[in-house]
Amino acid sequence: MQRRELGACGIDVPVVIFGAWAVGGWSWGGADDERSVQAIQASIDAGANAIDTAPVYGFGRSEIVVGRAIQGRRAAVVLMTKVGLRWDDERGDPAFETTDELGRKLVVRRNLRPWSVREEVEHSLKRMRVDVIDVVQVHWPDPRTPIPETMGALLELRAQGKLRAIGVSNFDVAQLELARKALGGVPLASDQPKYSLLARDIERDVLPWCRAAGVGVVVYSPLEQGLLTGKVTAERTFGADDGRSRRATFAAANRARVNAAIERVLAPIAARHGATCGQVALAWVVAQPGITAAIAGARTPEQARENAAAGALVLEPGELAELRAAFESLRLELPLRTRARGVLGVLRRLLGRR
Ligand SMILES: NC(=O)c1ccc[n+]([C@@H]2O[C@H](COP(=O)([O-])OP(=O)(O)OC[C@H]3O[C@@H](n4cnc5c(N)ncnc54)[C@H](OP(=O)(O)O)[C@@H]3O)[C@@H](O)[C@H]2O)c1
Repeated sequence: MQRRELGACGIDVPVVIFGAWAVGGWSWGGADDERSVQAIQASIDAGANAIDTAPVYGFGRSEIVVGRAIQGRRAAVVLMTKVGLRWDDERGDPAFETTDELGRKLVVRRNLRPWSVREEVEHSLKRMRVDVIDVVQVHWPDPRTPIPETMGALLELRAQGKLRAIGVSNFDVAQLELARKALGGVPLASDQPKYSLLARDIERDVLPWCRAAGVGVVVYSPLEQGLLTGKVTAERTFGADDGRSRRATFAAANRARVNAAIERVLAPIAARHGATCGQVALAWVVAQPGITAAIAGARTPEQARENAAAGALVLEPGELAELRAAFESLRLELPLRTRARGVLGVLRRLLGRR
């Protein structure tokens, strides 16, 4: 397993981190806690011993399951969770509405006020049954709370020994700059954006900025929620309680195009290395300059072991380029707003503005 320092925060992480969203059940068609505990433990034992979770994943359930899985193994684990999305408090701007596994309607709100950050970290420590969290990341920006206020609360919690390092997620460059400045001499450990062979937007500005600033980049959905494993065939269906049933990338036409590219380019490379397609997709991500690690979600010990083993797979420069070219030339049918975001990004860059 290759390991890298998370920015300049002094914490080493494996290049494959266990993603614990799906083990929360919500938005992933449910979960089996026993299997989830086994999956997390298999990941730790295979060297992928960093875990990324969040309070909102299963509305506390993911953190509770992570806490169970790391009992007796705390010292061997890098524990990463988040703050900023509340379903259990009525203050803050609504981010989205959803239903939990019991069918109850919930409003999830953005809240990064200092009191809320302090409250959330206390809840996370209790749910995971630990004294300290290694990395606390701001899950999504909250336009109502000035970034320095949130960073101030996180710095206080760090001074109290409740967390070791501070990261963010889904931040743009302007927000990253504000966060880094607000932390003063304490390094901003990492940003957590989306990135995969199919989602390369951060290459435009976030990734170069993080590289230049020495901020770690741990990316989410590197398997495009399973699509890049080649196992999402045309026949596979997802229930209404699985978010993938509504994702544009999973629509029949897109699935067919992605699977054709996998068959043509990714699968032959995988065969050459005696690896799986998912492992090659992960190895491509962690080989990109500036990427610290890929957070791969897994629900079974088999998936967790397979993903962890990708951390030892090194692709040739020619293979990396071939994969990039194949997926860059793929034209997916995406909703107008997704395409508009891309065009806007290019325009901003051309105009030299954010
Ligand atoms: N900061 C944020 O806003 C944000 C957003 C999204 C995710 N995240 C984090 O990033 C993590 C990973 O992202 P993600 O869960 O969205 O997507 P992902 O890692 O790209 O995909 C995970 C899914 O792919 C399938 N899979 C995983 N390993 C596999 C294997 N070896 N073989 C076959 N299928 C496999 C599993 O689904 P099936 O078992 O159903 O096939 C699994 O749930 C999350 O768990 C979370 O920690 C953060």
